[in-house]
Amino acid sequence: MENRFHMEFSAVSENESFARLCISAFLLPCDPTVNDMTDIKTAVSEAVTNAIIHGYEGVENGIVTLDARLEKNILHIKVSDTGKGIANIEEARKPLFTTGSDRERSGMGFTVMEAFTDKMAVESEVGKGTTVTMQKRLKCYG
Ligand SMILES: Nc1ncnc2c1ncn2[C@@H]1O[C@H](COP(=O)(O)OP(=O)(O)OP(=O)(O)O)[C@@H](O)[C@H]1O
Ligand SMILES: [Mg+2]
Repeated sequence: MENRFHMEFSAVSENESFARLCISAFLLPCDPTVNDMTDIKTAVSEAVTNAIIHGYEGVENGIVTLDARLEKNILHIKVSDTGKGIANIEEARKPLFTTGSDRERSGMGFTVMEAFTDKMAVESEVGKGTTVTMQKRLKCYG
């Protein structure tokens, strides 16, 4: 079976938990393990938070796009923004690298996304935006 959804939402911090809830609700019918569910919620949350706080830093009315596709038990996720983009993706993906000035940022978002999924890719262009794709094979009971 294949199932998918596509959503667009405003780049505001309230929507971090909204996106987490949406991906959880989408996965429920396949009855995933608690671990898989936690991993996916966390990975999606990190990507969405990045889009909101880094992609649209200082920008109003930004839109974040979240796409998910479940093909048998393989989950494909795409999180995109059309914000400022990343100049050096390799550097940005390194553990502890952050351009965040506030103390809440630890520079571990990409590292977490990579660790909690089977595959993670980042495409970005300065001034055009960023797309993060992730893939994970789930242990579904449903
Ligand atoms: N969507 C994005 N648009 C622009 N820059 C981004 C985006 N996502 C990440 N970055 C850049 O990559 C850096 C590393 O991201 P990462 O998520 O690993 O750490 P962080 O967001 O700084 O801290 P943490 O995720 O631990 O709170 C960010 O500090 C930022 O400079
Ligand atoms: Mg982050």
